Amino acid sequence: MKNILITGGAGYIGSHTAVELIHAGYGVVIADNLSNADTTCLEGVKKITGRDIPFYKADCCRKDQLLPIFREHRIDGVIHFAAFKAVGESVEKPLMYYHNNLLSLVTLLEVMVENGGGHVVFSSSATVYGQPPVLPVTEDTPRMPATSPYGNTKQICEDILADAVKAYASVKVVILRYFNPIGAHPSALIGELPRGIPNNLVPFITQTAAGVRKELHIFGSNYNTPDGTALRDYIDVVDLAAAHVSALKRMEAYDKPGLCEVFNVGTGKPLSVMELVKKFETVNHLSLKYRITGRREGDVEAVWADTSLANRVLSWKARRPLEETLANAWAWERNIRGIT
Ligand code: UD1
Repeated sequence: MKNILITGGAGYIGSHTAVELIHAGYGVVIADNLSNADTTCLEGVKKITGRDIPFYKADCCRKDQLLPIFREHRIDGVIHFAAFKAVGESVEKPLMYYHNNLLSLVTLLEVMVENGGGHVVFSSSATVYGQPPVLPVTEDTPRMPATSPYGNTKQICEDILADAVKAYASVKVVILRYFNPIGAHPSALIGELPRGIPNNLVPFITQTAAGVRKELHIFGSNYNTPDGTALRDYIDVVDLAAAHVSALKRMEAYDKPGLCEVFNVGTGKPLSVMELVKKFETVNHLSLKYRITGRREGDVEAVWADTSLANRVLSWKARRPLEETLANAWAWERNIRGIT
């Protein structure tokens, strides 16, 4: 059995990936410093899988905290989620973002190389494309200068990985560029737990439906899109988690050194903010209080993925219908709020 270390495994995407990995027959070890997560999702993963997963409260910037994990387990691969991810906060605290997001990757790679290398799946983001001139975006679409320190850390991390693979034959890398991950596990035992006021659309919607937020603000209705609201590619978090399993299989099947591949992970279908809001209302038989306001600074008008490379090379594709994803998002919110 292959053992995979999931950094940031107590978080939203990390916890869903832990479940998919265990179901695919992998051994899982989780490391998380709990800076932006608590143990709710870890407990959820245990309930869903029936496994007691080794957990380390560890900061990936700290070699002394990573080394015991590698000493106590044979680690065949790492999925590196642990990072700060709030765009606005990164503008206010750029050094904190560069320190955490870059140092954690470098430290992790150093520890891996010292321990014989292995496979790395890295969480990147569609943010690296900025506003692409042609849609949908392929992996060959040039990256745009980052509009936030957060986005810049994703670009720099991609470059660090590409350089590491050239220098260390023992390391293979798959970079996944996520579009907009949404939804929750169908069990409603794990899901997104944003701290404070959510930045992202779907948690804001579910919290508004739950009465935690007064109303949803729709940021801009004068974009050059069919209904004037921005277009994104919303990918179910369980589908996204499955892409990490496919990425590991890809590296296991690739018998030459020097693998560093990049894949878009989305549905390939654009959806407007307004369409998503309406679909959420219909699927969940409720009515959301919302208001159209001005554009949010830094937002792009439209971005969605060409996923043919992941479909072909990873044999992966998004499967879950949007209706199911939005029902799961609401079931999770109800579960954590105790709403029946
Ligand atoms: C953002 C980040 C992306 C990051 C992702 C997940 C940028 C530009 N965007 O994507 O890098 O990976 O979050 O953390 O770097 N919206 C509203 N009202 C709200 C919230 C959002 O109308 O209350 C709209 C936004 O204007 C946007 C869409 O919903 O058009 C999606 O927003 P959001 O969920 O925040 O994701 P992105 O900004 O696309």
